[in-house]
Amino acid sequence: MEQKKRVLSCIQPTGDMHFGNYFGAVKNWVDLQAEYECFYGVVNYHAMTMPYDSKKLVHNTWELIFNLMATGLKTETLFIQSLVPEHAELCWIFNCFTSYGQLSRMTQFKDKSKQSEESSEGFISAGLLNYPVLQAADILIYRADFVPVGDDQDQHLELARNIAQRFNNQAGKEYLILPKALHTEVPRVMSTAEPTRKMSKSAGEKHYINIFAEPDRIRKQIRSAVTDAGDTPAGEMSPGVKNLFSLLKACEKHDIYDALMNNYNAGNLKYVDLKEAVAEALVEISNPFRQRKAEINANKKEVKEQVKASSVEIRKRAQETIREVQELSGLLNVKF
Ligand code: AMP
Ligand code: TRP
Repeated sequence: MEQKKRVLSCIQPTGDMHFGNYFGAVKNWVDLQAEYECFYGVVNYHAMTMPYDSKKLVHNTWELIFNLMATGLKTETLFIQSLVPEHAELCWIFNCFTSYGQLSRMTQFKDKSKQSEESSEGFISAGLLNYPVLQAADILIYRADFVPVGDDQDQHLELARNIAQRFNNQAGKEYLILPKALHTEVPRVMSTAEPTRKMSKSAGEKHYINIFAEPDRIRKQIRSAVTDAGDTPAGEMSPGVKNLFSLLKACEKHDIYDALMNNYNAGNLKYVDLKEAVAEALVEISNPFRQRKAEINANKKEVKEQVKASSVEIRKRAQETIREVQELSGLLNVKF
């Protein structure tokens, strides 16, 4: 049997999961499980690069694990980054194969350090600068072939390839696998309250719809979605209406989508019908999520043990890589 290609992706633990995260990333991760050998990490070391609260970090790490499981990720694909401390070790080694200049030119570093500078504390951690090196370690430690991410991560992936190449050159061997981004067509989900901005947690509660929200709350948020044209040029669809159609498509309601789009083109679409269809599609998609989340919540202790066990299993691969990397880099080590 042909060996399955390997997929790795990671997500930071930052609170509630919304339909933007689901349709933009997590749904794709769930689907990839059928075709690839997958590893999905909750990256709590990365979450320390900006000022944070330790208690919230623990809580958010587990919540994200539970949420990912409730959306359909298999336990054995999941790990928590800090339970595989070899990521941090490999990050150190990679720091020595990374150009300082290249790191300081990263778009995300420039944006986030500006944000920090403008905040009251004005503190920019060296962790923020080295964030993409840790990301390279996440990927290369599992010898991943593909990394499903949005195109905002292309620069980080390029850096991971540069690091791998520099390392391989020094080692005199094509040891590390050069990973490729896996760009799948995913929708960019907009805030229903302000459809010109992305659905996101940071903008506040009305700007995102939690995938575990009660059906009535989902209906209410969709019913109050902004549909008016604002300053949309005449003859163009307003961003709010576009967003609702895009959600309907993401829910794979193709027949209803076509019927309502025909109405729109004929000039007789009733927004309430569109909203009704979107609300019901989202409720239908999220029913099993709510159900599985309730089951997980009733068995938190066992579920945590399962995820610790899967992290231990996944860690074995990371340990193998670290040992080989140490040998290739001229570092002493002992066999475990
Ligand atoms: P974040 O919570 O912003 O770190 O995002 C986690 C993942 O969800 C990333 O892969 C994002 O690209 C994706 N994502 C977040 N918000 C949206 C959105 N509004 N539409 C599509 N994808 C999103
Ligand atoms: N930087 C990624 C993001 O903001 C998260 C991440 C960390 C990641 N390590 C990774 C993504 C490894 C893919 C692979 O979304």
